[in-house]
Parts: sequence; structure tokens; C-alpha cells
Amino acid sequence: MIQNSAFGETIIELNEIDSTNNYAMRLINEGMAEHGLVIKADFQTHGKGQHGNVWIAEESKNLLCSVILDTRALEIEEQFLLNCLTCVSITEILMQQYNIPNVSIKWPNDIYAGKNKIAGILIENNIRGSIWTNAVIGIGLNVNQSTFSYLNNATSMKNELQKEVKIIQVLKQLLKKMSFNINTFNREPEYFLVLYNNYLLQVGRQIQFMRKYELKAGLLKGVNKNGAIEIEEKQKVRNYQHKEIELLIQ
Ligand code: BTN
Repeated sequence: MIQNSAFGETIIELNEIDSTNNYAMRLINEGMAEHGLVIKADFQTHGKGQHGNVWIAEESKNLLCSVILDTRALEIEEQFLLNCLTCVSITEILMQQYNIPNVSIKWPNDIYAGKNKIAGILIENNIRGSIWTNAVIGIGLNVNQSTFSYLNNATSMKNELQKEVKIIQVLKQLLKKMSFNINTFNREPEYFLVLYNNYLLQVGRQIQFMRKYELKAGLLKGVNKNGAIEIEEKQKVRNYQHKEIELLIQ
């Protein structure tokens, strides 16, 4: 069971840092981190994305934060379910609190508004021996940035809503939602897999994807609790891990 104290009772707000995830990991390694601690920065000099990519975000325009969790009571196999909880929490605040249309989860951990990415998640884990001790949930949510010259499929809350949004309020809403969802997660972690699949982009549709430079097609059936995507190709369901294929958004 994850402690259900509210997240963000303490928020460390930084003007500039290499990466909020790195800062959080340093606190953990120094024994200075506590469950629920949140680190927020206006700017990251070495923001990290998935697959070793950089995460570039204009200064003071976006939500860049990391949430520290004590995960000792969880099984290592539950890592993907924690990703589901995070994706679902972001999706729900964008839909329910901000009325952003067409919000969905793009497997495995991107949040989309329509056909454009609005948020990314990088969860880094601290594992000692066989014990999963901590997770650092890094969230990059595009809030008031309106142009993304280096990317061609990015959007922000401002672009979707045609108005500026207060970043700290988005963070507070998100932490409230995550704290609430953690209680449900403690009782029924797989419920977040169900919600994840409900919000999954292109689920139940014919999709195209790249596998080893080959363009393939199939029916997107859903994602399983290990985080593998299930695609029906020629009447046979195949599972793929996220490094094996790249989904093409139509
Ligand atoms: C992705 O590639 O989609 C994941 C992006 C995650 C970016 C966030 S910004 C706050 C936190 N600190 C980092 O260095 N990365 C994550």
C-alpha cells in the first residue's frame, strides 16, 4: 500500500535546475527525500525525456515537476500500473478541470490533445536488491508555451484553450487528483489499467506502426498490465514492448 498522505504538502520550487528528476534522485540518495515531496522548476538545463532524449521547454511557460514516492510496499511488477495511474491522473485533470477536448493517452506514456502531444512522463525508479524503494514521477506538461519550433506535433493547454493558464494551479489540481487516485490504487491497482485502456489513443481501431523499418497494420486491442501493447494482425494477437515498435498517428 502506498502511503496516502496528500502529495505536495511540501513543494520545492526552483528557478533553474539540471532536471527535477535528477534533483529528486539526489535527495533520495542523500536520504533527504520524503514520500509525497514535489520538486518544481521554471527551467531545466538538462531536462530528460524518454529513451535518453532531451526535454526542451521554454522558461516559466510549462509545468516541469517530479513527485517522489515511497514504493517499498509495491511489487516491482506494478511499475506499469503506476505509469497508468500517472497517465490517467493527467488525462482526467485536462478533461475534467480544464475541459480540453480529445485528450487521450498514447501508449506507453504520452498524453495527447487531438493528434498532438501535450504532456510526457518519465518515471525513474530506485531499486535496492529486489526492493523497489522509490519512484520519481517526472511530468512535463505544456501549459503556456505556444510555439514548438523543434517539434511538429506538440501542443499546450494555452493552444487548446486559447487562453493562459496558471501553472501552479495546474500542479495543485494534478497533485489533488493523484492523491485521490492513490487511495483507489491501494485498493484496486488494476482499475488504472482499465481506465488507461479507456483513454487509450486509437484503441479498437485499425492502426499503422513501424517495426524494424517495416510498415505494419493491425487492430489495436489494448495494453496489458506489463505495459505491452496488443495488436491483432491477420487474426493473430501479438504483444509488443515499447521499444519494439513505433505507432503512427493517423
Ligand atoms: C517524454 O519523453 O515524453 C518524457 C518527458 C518528461 C519530462 C519531465 S519535465 C520534469 C521531469 N524532469 C525531467 O528531466 N524530465 C521530466
